[in-house]
Amino acid sequence: MIRVTEVDFRYSVPGRNVISGLTLNIHRGEILAVLGANGSGKSTLALLLNGILRPTAGRVEIDGLLTTEAANVSRIRSLVGMVLQSPDDQIVATVVEEDVAFGPENLGLEPDEIRVRVDAALNAVGLTGLERREPHLLSGGQKQRLAIAGILALQPAFLVLDEPTSMLDPSGRRDVLGIVEELRGQGHGIVHITHHIEDIATADRVLVLAEGAAVFCGPPVEFLQQNRLLESWGLAVPAVGSLAARLRDRGVPVPVTAMTAETIVSAL
Ligand SMILES: Nc1ncnc2c1ncn2[C@@H]1O[C@H](COP(=O)(O)OP(=O)(O)OP(=O)(O)O)[C@@H](O)[C@H]1O
Ligand SMILES: [Mg+2]
Repeated sequence: MIRVTEVDFRYSVPGRNVISGLTLNIHRGEILAVLGANGSGKSTLALLLNGILRPTAGRVEIDGLLTTEAANVSRIRSLVGMVLQSPDDQIVATVVEEDVAFGPENLGLEPDEIRVRVDAALNAVGLTGLERREPHLLSGGQKQRLAIAGILALQPAFLVLDEPTSMLDPSGRRDVLGIVEELRGQGHGIVHITHHIEDIATADRVLVLAEGAAVFCGPPVEFLQQNRLLESWGLAVPAVGSLAARLRDRGVPVPVTAMTAETIVSAL
């Protein structure tokens, strides 16, 4: 479990808290979606979760390991994998399978073990068959899946994805979201930072950050019931979602989980 306890963080002294008073647990087998306006502290939280940043106050523990203890750093890095916005920034090799092998090689694993991990990771993200492909020939979605495979080859318990779909087209986004769900099914704990409110549909819980503080943490259905608060949190109400809210106001029984035109129509 990732345990965040009363964490404050600021980048410089003096400076304002970018994360303030944050308490949060993240379990294996769940997807936590993190929403918040630009600058609300989402990426900073991501970096606190794998020990790249250390809290100014409070503590972050991964399976009981404090991120502030130097002796824990390498173990924490392998327990919590990070996937970033731009797949191009995460690809290091000129051949797909070599890119996935890069992390395990750095761990000093045996070649046989590396082969097994690379094959399993490529299979998990649906890139089997493209082992010898040059990454720059992949689509955006495939590149991001490759970046995820590179992390999976390190066998992390938790994955922190910081807006992994923001540079992808709709089909690339669907692919990545599908993989995130499969990884949850395999028992990974996932933190999915996103600015697409629709992405919360597959999450177990939603955390909303505003100026570094948790202003909401709960299941997606409860989040959607806060419709009128979204704007005050700096979140854009999705167009279809606001239509659904207006219909509900007029007594039409549209479920709060209906966020696409299809689900609204089928509710009518
Ligand atoms: N390296 C840094 N040094 C100083 N301040 C920083 C640094 N990185 C981020 N900040 C500031 O910390 C605050 C939170 O930034 P952060 O990147 O965590 O927000 P975010 O929610 O990820 O935003 P975005 O939606 O734009 O990705 C912002 O005010 C930002 O300007
Ligand atoms: Mg960010």
